[in-house]
Amino acid sequence: MNNTPRKILVTSALPYANGPIHIGHLVEYIQTDIWVRFQKMRGHECYYVCADDAHGTPIMLRARQEGIEPETLINRVAEEHTADFAEFRIDFDNYHSTHSPENQACANTIYERNRDGGHIAKRTITQAYDPVEKMFLPDRFIKGTCPKCGSEDQYGDNCEVCGASYSPAELKNPVSAVSGAIPEQRESDHYFFKLADFETMLKEWTGGGHVQSEVSNKLDEWFEAGLQEWDISRDAPYFGFEIPDHPGKYFYVWLDAPIGYMASFRNLCDKTEGLDFDSYWAEGSDTELYHFIGKDIIYFHTLFWPAMLHGAGFRTPNAVYAHGFLTVDGAKMSKSRGTFIKARTYLDHLNPEYLRYYFAAKLGSGVDDIDLNLEDFAQRVNSDLVGKVVNIASRCAGFISKRFEGKLADQVSEQALFDEFVSAGDAIAQHYEKREFSRAVREIMALADRANQYIDEQKPWVVAKEEGKQAELQAICSDGLNLFRLLIGYLRPILPGTAEMAESFLQIDRLTWEQLATPLCGHTISKFKPLMTRVDPKHIEAMLEHSKEDLAAQQQTAPTKPAADSPLTKDPIADTIQFDDFAKLDLRIARIAKAEHVDGADKLLQLTLDLGGETRNVFAGIKSAYAPEDLQGKLTVMVANLAPRKMRFGLSEGMVLAAGPGGKDLFILNPDDGAEPGMRVK
Ligand code: MSP
Ligand code: ZN
Repeated sequence: MNNTPRKILVTSALPYANGPIHIGHLVEYIQTDIWVRFQKMRGHECYYVCADDAHGTPIMLRARQEGIEPETLINRVAEEHTADFAEFRIDFDNYHSTHSPENQACANTIYERNRDGGHIAKRTITQAYDPVEKMFLPDRFIKGTCPKCGSEDQYGDNCEVCGASYSPAELKNPVSAVSGAIPEQRESDHYFFKLADFETMLKEWTGGGHVQSEVSNKLDEWFEAGLQEWDISRDAPYFGFEIPDHPGKYFYVWLDAPIGYMASFRNLCDKTEGLDFDSYWAEGSDTELYHFIGKDIIYFHTLFWPAMLHGAGFRTPNAVYAHGFLTVDGAKMSKSRGTFIKARTYLDHLNPEYLRYYFAAKLGSGVDDIDLNLEDFAQRVNSDLVGKVVNIASRCAGFISKRFEGKLADQVSEQALFDEFVSAGDAIAQHYEKREFSRAVREIMALADRANQYIDEQKPWVVAKEEGKQAELQAICSDGLNLFRLLIGYLRPILPGTAEMAESFLQIDRLTWEQLATPLCGHTISKFKPLMTRVDPKHIEAMLEHSKEDLAAQQQTAPTKPAADSPLTKDPIADTIQFDDFAKLDLRIARIAKAEHVDGADKLLQLTLDLGGETRNVFAGIKSAYAPEDLQGKLTVMVANLAPRKMRFGLSEGMVLAAGPGGKDLFILNPDDGAEPGMRVK
């Protein structure tokens, strides 16, 4: 296979900075990371950049809701994201933020060049406005009754009950999800990107093999429907970049988000001697640029993004590769089933290499959804990785250590078999290149079967007992280990952690594709240590429980948010309640008679609450902030008439009130001015 050195820049979509990474996201980051590791292993110069997507209304409101500055929120989330990615061995060359000077500079350039090219239009539009919060409301922040089916409590852009799409103006009885106020219609000047100016260029680009065939069909539909002008501005208050020539107007988050790819690379260039920004982004450059994305954001990446780039005189991507969505056990990830699994929760229970392998075994080059079937997950990892691959090494290594002081034979003895393994490398490489990872995995596992079959036939454990067959024993085991080395090499992009352990066992440098054809002869290896343990279904069970517990912990304390410096202190997507609803709450002073750890729960404490005669058992998600002994004897406020809730650890008969952003800063309400257990709080 032709393998002349290439210069490649690769990106994954930028995760929003208002929530944790979950296993759905990981499909993308693992897919991209495997592809990038493969390119690097082939000897290409390849850079993988990403960033947090830090702007927009949801992030602004989330920060207000927590009573912190948006910068504080995005810094905290960036730390969490980076730590999660690192443990999954997503090996970014740079991880940046869209809220950065580099991104502001790039966004301004792209905007100004498009403006100067006549591709920006100004129009006055009428939009829903929240008179209490003094802000225009994005569709998602308006709720009301569906104009088609009459279901209440639907978002301003579509109905979750009947699936209808509509404009917020059509919604009946609309209210602001931020303040509960009835929105007014107000006028404001907006700036639009004239996408239709680029129709010819886009048809050429999308028809030119830069997108997958399924995507290309979708694009034909969009072209047919006509390319609309795209509103790229938002009014203050907005967390984003001010538009250079229009004070008080901000770039819409989706304008500067993809520009974040550029900005992250710019930031990398500034830190890296000899890495030239222009040779990757200038029009006509001969380097390669690829974006990996999920299927929900195709429009932005295959229409707006290439058009914006072209309009500003930059190169367009070589390809945009979309993948499908993750389902767990055949269904959408669900919080109540425990299948909405955060990256962190997964890491608390299972080895990241398992998930990397499972996703690889399922991923193809198309946009089909992929399913994580948890039973199949355990079974595949155990039978393929532990049962086949690692097993080869463990069957051969003992004899080499014990009988030959760790030294391998001076030559390969089953040359034909070794050559068969080497020549399979080309097909495997092509599968990787084309993102047909499941095919690569299938080929590699067929080789693993072949290697095990060889050992079964040669029976080193029998040969070991026979007189005068030392050389034969060494030959069989050395061949086995050389085959193992090839398998690990082929799996390296998928299993970087396991490969590292194997390399240290084999006492070799990090494997490159090119070296694979050269066997280890007369080489000393170290003692074998198990490279991977079997998936224990108990750990999967615990992970699901833990995910449910994350949710329960959220529900079992009803945080009353600290007063923010802004009037926006409510959950932006919660509805308001009427006075009658409020009056239904039976809030009482309770004495914490007993506080105990709960076996197997990371977040919960078990509280025995004394209501002045009556006692209640309550599980509260406050372990991050309190040791049981700090609580005993304290007074707190509880919701006494909450319906009992069955939890894994027992029945919870109420809820204690706490305030604060969470973690260590979570404070149970602790009245002390003459309050007595049992008193009503009103
Ligand atoms: N911030 C935007 C992307 C901007 S790129 C210039 C965004 N962020 S996201 O956090 O919602 O998603 C990040 C990536 O993860 C997207 O490509 C998205 O498609 C992908 N996924 C999010 N949930 C997913 C699944 N459940 N399954 C597979 N991929 C998923 O979109
Ligand atoms: Zn409806």
